[in-house]
Amino acid sequence: MLAAIAVVTGLAWWDEQREADAALRDLENEQSVLATSLAGTLRANLGILERDARLAGEHGAGILGARYAPALVRSAGAPRASASDPARMLISVPIDGGRLVDLGVLPRDLLDRDQRLGRPGELQVLVAAPHETALRLVDGTVVGTAAVRDALDRGLPALRLAPSDAVDVGLPARTSMVGMAAVDAGELGRWGVASVASAARERDREKRAIWRLILGVFVTSGLVIAFGGTALRRQRKELELQRELAVAEAQRQRDEELGRAERVATMGTFAMGIAHEASTPLAVIVGRAEQLLARLKDDERAERSVQTILTQADRIQNIIRRFLDMARGGPPALERVDPATVVRAATSAVEHRFAKAHVTLAADVPATMPAIQCDRDLLEQAVVNLLLNACEACQAGGRVEVTARADAEQVAFVVTDNGAGISAENASRAKEPFFTTKPHGAGTGLGLAIATEIVKSHRGELSIAPHTDHGTRALIEIPIATGGANARAV
Ligand SMILES: Nc1ncnc2c1ncn2[C@@H]1O[C@H](COP(=O)(O)OP(=O)(O)OP(=O)(O)O)[C@@H](O)[C@H]1O
Ligand SMILES: [Mg+2]
Repeated sequence: MLAAIAVVTGLAWWDEQREADAALRDLENEQSVLATSLAGTLRANLGILERDARLAGEHGAGILGARYAPALVRSAGAPRASASDPARMLISVPIDGGRLVDLGVLPRDLLDRDQRLGRPGELQVLVAAPHETALRLVDGTVVGTAAVRDALDRGLPALRLAPSDAVDVGLPARTSMVGMAAVDAGELGRWGVASVASAARERDREKRAIWRLILGVFVTSGLVIAFGGTALRRQRKELELQRELAVAEAQRQRDEELGRAERVATMGTFAMGIAHEASTPLAVIVGRAEQLLARLKDDERAERSVQTILTQADRIQNIIRRFLDMARGGPPALERVDPATVVRAATSAVEHRFAKAHVTLAADVPATMPAIQCDRDLLEQAVVNLLLNACEACQAGGRVEVTARADAEQVAFVVTDNGAGISAENASRAKEPFFTTKPHGAGTGLGLAIATEIVKSHRGELSIAPHTDHGTRALIEIPIATGGANARAV
């Protein structure tokens, strides 16, 4: 900022100096013009002087009156008249018959008879007579400015006079500008006239301009510094505020995450508690159903119903046991399974839900596929969760497709639907426990979280993403070599 102020000041200073120089040049030109015009007057008045001298030669000096003092007609060789007044120049004018007329003349009379010449302290007019070495002011005072005399003799049109020389011609001790002109007056010789003007006014104006400049620079710099300081302080405050807001936001996000993790942990504990508590009444149900089965030998329909109760209860017990194992961090119980049986079991488990919702469910599984090492019940549950989500996303008339395919390394289960679709943001959060977009009470937000955990325990991956223009595609990929370190055979 200081550099900028210095540059601006420098430029303003340079401009001011140019202005001052131009003003001095103008003054110099004015003086040249004035000197030229005075030279014209001087030439005319010298002509009148010659005519008056001739008149005096014819009729005697008395005819000139008191205008020239002294005025004397003499023959060449006769002694020259002596000047009674030192202010007057004694000019000897040759006339016919070898005679001379001596005339005492005030310089003012040769320049301006109305005596308007000169402005005290500002402008002086000087006359250089050929018979005098010094110059005279218009009132006749002799002044010794050798510089002006020398310039006149050399025929220069103008001159810049130093302050000390200006004092000699009765001007203030400031630079002065001189304009000069020569007059060739024939027998009266070569005369000169000079107009000397003090540049005090220009110099004062320049001084005032420089003070104005300094003041302006100080005031402007002060204002710039004051405003700049305020702006900087305000900017710093804003930055501090932004930093505080960012810290508060980071803290809020961390608190939110901690809260979510805490909720997940609490719900996990609850889920384990529920699973644990449910196993006791389930054991009672299984026990009673077995007793009932023994007594229903003659009623085939009732026998089949009780058998179904036993199968489903067994399935529940099995899943609860595996969930508890998983929650404890244990590996899944692996067996060799044909992927087609997983798809079949999952579709048959959800068939009634699709029928109720009037959504078509189509399964497409190749006739032969490599078997995978997996926990059949858990993997089936994971596919069931995907199918239920797909069904719930569709309106009546919708369609869901489940396929299985395999390559050398992995088996993939793909569930696609033409339902409501999923936004990129929801897709990125869908696997979080308790994330649901369903109305309160309609969904727990655990379906995908559980499926993810199941797939992870098989070293696989679950992903969910938008599918074509609308609809969603959920994908489970399980490596065929799953029966590795993480697996336990059953
Ligand atoms: N096929 C799908 N189409 C559109 N959105 C889906 C689909 N599958 C999952 N989602 C979104 O992911 C969210 C989480 O699914 P998740 O299965 O974990 O919970 P939920 O289905 O909401 O609840 P619950 O499984 O207990 O019924 C859903 O609420 C839904 O917003
Ligand atoms: Mg769900």
